[in-house]
Amino acid sequence: SRRIVVLISGSGSNLQAIIDACKAPDYPGEVVAVISNKADAYGLTRADNAQIANQVISHKDFVSRESYDQALIEQIDVYQPDLVILAGFMRILTPEFVQHFSGKLLNIHPSLLPKYQGLNTHQRAIDAGDSEHGVSVHFVTEELDGGPVILQAKVPIFAEDDAEILASRIHQQEHRIYPLVVKWFCSDRLMMQDEKAVLDGKTLPLSGYA
Ligand code: GAR
Repeated sequence: SRRIVVLISGSGSNLQAIIDACKAPDYPGEVVAVISNKADAYGLTRADNAQIANQVISHKDFVSRESYDQALIEQIDVYQPDLVILAGFMRILTPEFVQHFSGKLLNIHPSLLPKYQGLNTHQRAIDAGDSEHGVSVHFVTEELDGGPVILQAKVPIFAEDDAEILASRIHQQEHRIYPLVVKWFCSDRLMMQDEKAVLDGKTLPLSGYA
C-alpha cells in the first residue's frame, strides 16, 4: 500500500479521518509518519494512539524559511512517502519544498477555492453575506492555495451562524472528502498533469461527486 506522510499544526481531526479510513482492509494507503511544526499539536497524540511515528520539527529552531523547509524535506524523505498531505499545516511552503514533492502533495483548504484563499475563511464568508461555503482538496503548487482543485464540498450558511459553528459544519465535510481523495491518489486514479488535476483520465473538477 502507498506510504503517506501527514503534516499538521493543530488538532489533527483530518489526520484522524485518514488514519481511520486506512483501517479498512481494502484501503490502498497507510500513514507512516506525522510531522508537526508545533509541539502542542493534539494530532501528535492521535498519532501516538495509532502507533504511528511522529515528531516535531519547530520552525522556531531555524533561521530562515528555506532552512526549515530543507530540514522538513530531509526528514520527510526518510519515510520514502508516495504521498505527502497537509492537514491543517499552517505554514507557507517554499518553492523548493513544493517542487520537491510536486505531484504528490495535497492540501485541504476550508473554502470554495478560488474564493477565500488564506486565513479566517469562515468569518470572511459570513461577513460577505454568502449563503454557502465549503472546502476544497487540491494539489499544492507554488501559488498559495492556488493549485488545481480535485474535489469540493459545499455547506449552507444560516443567518445565525458564527465562525465556530460553520467551522464544525465544514469539518464534517472535510472528514468525508479528504480520505476519498487520498484513496483515489493511492489507487493511481488521480494525478497532476500539466498543473491540472486528472481523475480516471478526466480533467477535474467534475460536478456531481461530493
Ligand atoms: C481544517 O479545517 C483545514 O481545512 C484548515 O485547518 C483545519 C485543520 O483542522 N486548513 C487551513 O486553514 C489551511 N490554510 P484539523 O487540525 O482538525 O485537521
